[in-house]
Amino acid sequence: MSYQHWRLEREDSGLAFLTFDKANESTNTFSNAALNELSAIADELAKSPPKGLAILSAKDNGFAAGADINQFTSFKSAEEAKAFTKLGLDVFDKIAALRFPTVAMVHGFCMGGGTELSLACTYRVMDDGPKTKMALPEVLIGIVPGWGGAMRMPKLIGAGQALDLMLTGRGVNGRSAKRMGLADVVTPRRHFMNAARMLLTNPPAPHKPSFGQAIADWPVIRNIVASKAASSVSKKVAQKHYPAPYAIIDLWQNYGGDPRKVPDSSPTSIASIFSHPTTANLIRIFKLQERMKAMGKDSSTSIRHVHVIGAGAMGGDIAAWCAFRGLTVTLQDLSAERIAPAIKRAAEMYKKRLKQPHLIQAAMDRLIPDPKADGVVQADLIIEAIVENPEIKKKLYADIEPRMKAGAILATNTSSIPLQQLSGVLKRPERLVGLHFFNPVAQMMLVEIVEGPQTSPEVMQAGIAFTRQIDKLPMPCKSAPGFLVNRVLSPYLHEAMLMLDEGIPGEIIDAAARDFGMPMGPIELADMVGLDICYAVGHELGKPGQKVPAKLQACIDAKHLGKKTGQGFYRWENGKPVKSGPRNDFDLVALADRMTLPAINEAIACVREGIVVDSDLADAGVIFGTGFAPHRGGPIQAAKARGKDELLKIMAMFEKQYGERFKADAGWQMVI
Ligand code: NAI
Repeated sequence: MSYQHWRLEREDSGLAFLTFDKANESTNTFSNAALNELSAIADELAKSPPKGLAILSAKDNGFAAGADINQFTSFKSAEEAKAFTKLGLDVFDKIAALRFPTVAMVHGFCMGGGTELSLACTYRVMDDGPKTKMALPEVLIGIVPGWGGAMRMPKLIGAGQALDLMLTGRGVNGRSAKRMGLADVVTPRRHFMNAARMLLTNPPAPHKPSFGQAIADWPVIRNIVASKAASSVSKKVAQKHYPAPYAIIDLWQNYGGDPRKVPDSSPTSIASIFSHPTTANLIRIFKLQERMKAMGKDSSTSIRHVHVIGAGAMGGDIAAWCAFRGLTVTLQDLSAERIAPAIKRAAEMYKKRLKQPHLIQAAMDRLIPDPKADGVVQADLIIEAIVENPEIKKKLYADIEPRMKAGAILATNTSSIPLQQLSGVLKRPERLVGLHFFNPVAQMMLVEIVEGPQTSPEVMQAGIAFTRQIDKLPMPCKSAPGFLVNRVLSPYLHEAMLMLDEGIPGEIIDAAARDFGMPMGPIELADMVGLDICYAVGHELGKPGQKVPAKLQACIDAKHLGKKTGQGFYRWENGKPVKSGPRNDFDLVALADRMTLPAINEAIACVREGIVVDSDLADAGVIFGTGFAPHRGGPIQAAKARGKDELLKIMAMFEKQYGERFKADAGWQMVI
């Protein structure tokens, strides 16, 4: 038989090799068609069994990226979602039931359904390179590992490790997978055929978890493990916002990981999960993330050497990140002493993330302190991250531009100065672009790519491609005060501080924001960021006539700048704010409306003004830049879901009560 998406070859030795090669696509994903073919292949193999079967991928990028996400968005009913889940599970069950040894040969990414297919095999062989990762990331798009992941992984490596992987969605490389018992053999991809032949001809006993790992599945212990897992999930996300992690625990604890056994009425059922609004929002964000990733593809510029000027909080970490991602980086500041702390921070980050001494050393070798600015003449890209002062920045530009090599790009990390205010000193203003990173650089995915009126399209495109090169998410936007993210965040923080001035306790304000779905409340966030920085941003982005909140001013006067000084709006002990106990005498929804509506209003204004190209990107930018309630799909999607009429009524009421700042932007009529 010949198949469209799979190639089955039998060797004289009696072994069979099945190659996944999804037709007309560069990435293997499981669609209905690919699964139906695999089902037919499993039947064919069961009828005339080989001595052993190896499953490989023909794609360079990886084994399989999981279920075809477009299939998810096309479901018209929960029934269709259920049928798709059952199809995958039944097919992988057939692979697991084959009466000869099977091995999955995994290189590159192996996500979700890819990992679940590999779990249905007797063995897993993994490539040892840094790009090879196995994961069950379903939780990140609001669903559960329903194709046998929740069923087979706990049995293979113990529930403790399996729950950790399923609840975080994190990926593991070959070395870690081998340590956990997920991979049987780790070897370079070029040795795959040999490794497969050896395993299948002399099959060893399949991996089993250790006694200590296996007991987590014993009924009494299982309940304890499940309740501990649920309690640690509840510290991160609420079940009403994110049902999937809770469903994963329940699926494992009460149904042996088999979604076919879950009654439709249960919140753990596929029907319930697919009809929950969070799932659609998280899938949409995943697709938007893919859209942002794809933006970097059309650029001929490849950056090899980055020169970063300013080794402070931002520049130091941007340089460290670029070297971490494989670029040669020279780092300039006013003196070697000012560069040293950045190099020290980089070493700590590499130690944590790279672990292996030779990789740490290689990254350190790529990060070169450069107090004499020798890198300026060689760099393909110069990123300026010096003090936020236009005169000092302009002086620097005038000094370095004549020394930059032809075709090199100049980027600024300014968070508030319009590019047009800086580009006047340049002979070639078209090569200035904004690359606005977020703090902390290593954790924040987003980079705003800021287009000044003179920035050339090629330079914009190169900025976008560079952002992808260092594995961040690019968000093109126009040069206007605050760009997108700070402009949206700033009125939200301002309103929270005004509420504090009115005597509403910080704990209550933070609780209202968290209840809405923010990862952290605004009062705690302000303390974390630093009240001096909030003050400066408020000053820069505040509406005309906007007053500085009194408590903020008092903290600034007293030099109580937040976490870094041990006292801000909160007192900080051991890196945590000291909060008083819960109270329930406030209407948290009304408080959340008061804080989030100015942010939503600003996001809408940004779309109307063309700061970002559309509301989808505005939502994605605000989510990846601030963590704005991902389960609601971002500010604009949240407003659409709640309903324009209802929100405009509330805005009008707030406008009467609190003034002009609640005036609805004209964009409400166009965008929502
Ligand atoms: P910082 O004060 O921590 O570091 C600035 C560094 O620039 C200092 O080490 C200083 O010695 C150096 N410097 C000053 N003039 C210089 C010159 N002429 N030549 C070479 N080095 C010079 O400042 P931070 O926070 O890193 O900010 C830098 C830039 O990044 C600013 O434009 C700021 O708006 C922007 N930014 C800051 C964010 C933050 O959260 N701190 C977030 C995003 C952007």
